[in-house]
Amino acid sequence: MSEKNHILEVKNLQVSYHTYAGEVKAVRGVNFELNTGEALAIVGESGCGKSVTAKTIMGLIKGPAGEVKKGSEILYKGENVLNYDKKQWQAYKGGECAIIFQDALASLNPTMRVGKQIMENLMVHKHMSKKEAQKEAVEMLRLVGIPEPEKRVKQYPHQFSGGMRQRVMIAIAFACDPKLLICDEPTTALDVTIQGQILDIIKDLQKRNNTSVIMITHDLGVVANVAQEIAVMYSGVIVERGKCEDIFYRPRHPYTWALIQSVPRLDLKNKQELASIPGTPPDLLNPPAGCPFSTRCKYCMGICKEQMPEITDFGDGHTAACWLHHPMAPKVEMPERKGGAE
Ligand SMILES: Nc1ncnc2c1ncn2[C@@H]1O[C@H](COP(=O)(O)OP(=O)(O)O)[C@@H](O)[C@H]1O
Ligand code: SF4
Ligand SMILES: [Mg+2]
Repeated sequence: MSEKNHILEVKNLQVSYHTYAGEVKAVRGVNFELNTGEALAIVGESGCGKSVTAKTIMGLIKGPAGEVKKGSEILYKGENVLNYDKKQWQAYKGGECAIIFQDALASLNPTMRVGKQIMENLMVHKHMSKKEAQKEAVEMLRLVGIPEPEKRVKQYPHQFSGGMRQRVMIAIAFACDPKLLICDEPTTALDVTIQGQILDIIKDLQKRNNTSVIMITHDLGVVANVAQEIAVMYSGVIVERGKCEDIFYRPRHPYTWALIQSVPRLDLKNKQELASIPGTPPDLLNPPAGCPFSTRCKYCMGICKEQMPEITDFGDGHTAACWLHHPMAPKVEMPERKGGAE
């Protein structure tokens, strides 16, 4: 198999916040690669470090409270962005990558017509004249599925519904022609039908422009049709990685098992009892010495509490960090999915 071309490689990323209570170790050694033109989903419960990872890649961690630890590497096209000077950061943040947040209202400029916000990016990044940008802004709104774009282009963000505002955000992000797009829970605040539409738009634009995408979500259910690869994150570390099919059909980590149990099954008509994961994630001020999931894992063994699990490689980029895969561990299979009568 040929080596894929990685637009982004994150190596041993460690990020902490210094608070009055102590050091919050938000990201504790994250590693992943993003293939050019593909989408990688980062999935995990709230508070596990997804947004901090995204912000670090976008250069948004600000000192003195936030600290990207020495030894961390974020290689964009082979160069460590953490060593960029001011000018390189500007070029990278302005033209190479873009981010879409969950809360479009907070990210849009409330006092500027949405058309102008799209036009600004088109004029700066695609060097269009004002007239060309005006025309293109209308086209971009049409492309993201906003009805009557000629009229809507002159309106302000507050005149749009949540779903429509998120579409505007996508139009603005793609107007920069980013090579790398990070979507941080872009559909979390929206209802299920609109969620699907927004994900479809991102997927279509990604294919059209060959954009590489990091899709961040707490909901494993939304990534199946969007990403080629999934990284499952827990308590500041990635516990399992692999191709979408491997994570859904051959998951190897008890936390991934629990996440899968909590995704509604569309093939079941009966009302389903969704398993929520009992317990809470560990305190990142004082994370456990061993496996971060050991406080909630029903398969926890003696060694789990003492030593961080080794990473087992199942081939084809599928890895999991769990002691169950040690040759001396008892054999355990993923539990049957619950969810009513077949
Ligand atoms: N500005 C901050 N100051 C202190 N702690 C923070 C700050 N931002 C995030 N954290 C902590 O970092 C951890 C990871 O947060 P975050 O990346 O936002 O989680 P997620 O996006 O996965 O829900 C959490 O424990 C959170 O409390
Ligand atoms: S290493 Fe141990 S505690 Fe951690 S997920 Fe595996 S079995 Fe559970
Ligand atoms: Mg977040």
